[in-house]
Amino acid sequence: MPRIAIVGAGAIGTVIAARLSARGGLDVSLCLRSGGFSSLEVQGPDGTVAATPTLYADPTQTRPVDWVIATTKAYDSAAIARTWLPALMGPQTRLAVLQNGVEHVANFAAFVDPARILPVMLDIPAERLGPGRVLQRAAGIMVVPQGPDSADFITLFHGTGINVTADADFTTVVWRKLCLNAAGAVSALLRQPAGIVHHAGAAPVMRALVAECVAVARAEGANMDDATVDQVMDACCAAAPAGINSLLADRMAGRPMELDARNGVIIRRGAAHGIPTPVNQTVHDLILAAVSAEKAQR
Ligand SMILES: NC(=O)c1ccc[n+]([C@@H]2O[C@H](COP(=O)([O-])OP(=O)(O)OC[C@H]3O[C@@H](n4cnc5c(N)ncnc54)[C@H](OP(=O)(O)O)[C@@H]3O)[C@@H](O)[C@H]2O)c1
Repeated sequence: MPRIAIVGAGAIGTVIAARLSARGGLDVSLCLRSGGFSSLEVQGPDGTVAATPTLYADPTQTRPVDWVIATTKAYDSAAIARTWLPALMGPQTRLAVLQNGVEHVANFAAFVDPARILPVMLDIPAERLGPGRVLQRAAGIMVVPQGPDSADFITLFHGTGINVTADADFTTVVWRKLCLNAAGAVSALLRQPAGIVHHAGAAPVMRALVAECVAVARAEGANMDDATVDQVMDACCAAAPAGINSLLADRMAGRPMELDARNGVIIRRGAAHGIPTPVNQTVHDLILAAVSAEKAQR
């Protein structure tokens, strides 16, 4: 029976662990930092999924598995690489990285042979309701690059309700998602939900963030043209106005934000290609300034 270890018992880790456990035929464990629960419950669009995977809080209690599925925030990649991966990864283990951004492989390349890392683009809207309990707002999809490990990974998710596909142009897939995420920085800056895109003062800034992201994406090899900016802005306008993206949710909760993975990377990769990204730089810096000022006032 294939052995799967999910690292990170947050919104995505809980959805993945519960659905893989409930599917049957897999030996599923969930590796966590903070617990307080013994079972999982996902309230999804297809009903409630309950499961009791093996829970581990101590890496020394685990042993190598066939697949490690990393579901922490991008900024916690090095921490789990140092703590959990040495125990969970044997000579044949593959590492699937479920993160936002475009640096899935880079975040782990100092610790794991990149040939054994499978980057995963995920669109699974989920939020934590309490320990072990998650609300999954819509059906989940994931995309992986076409390659030697894609078929095995896709097979793991048969019957889970999460649709996984392989795409030969994964670079375009992740940069397109990053364009959407880049625009979301305006919500986080202004502490406003997604409907802020309909404000005449916000929309041009969001458009400029996206246009810079498209320019850098093209330099990185993504297949995009000028119409991409309109398509991404259309998607922003079509989003539920009350929607709160994770950058904003993390800022409101006083948690660390994936700002570097979402906008910092556009600035960094833009600099590497000689492409100016002044709007991403400004919004990025203003968010950091606002968070720092808020902390000082507490
Ligand atoms: N949620 C969504 O709707 C969604 C949608 C698309 C993409 N994503 C992406 O998916 C990734 C995961 O997001 P998420 O929403 O699931 O984040 P999350 O709810 O914050 O969960 C992250 C989990 O990682 C755990 N963790 C951190 N360091 C750890 C360590 N050293 N050992 C063990 N566990 C550790 C955290 O532990 P604690 O419980 O102790 O904090 C937390 O449970 C992110 O890159 C996000 O951008 C999320």
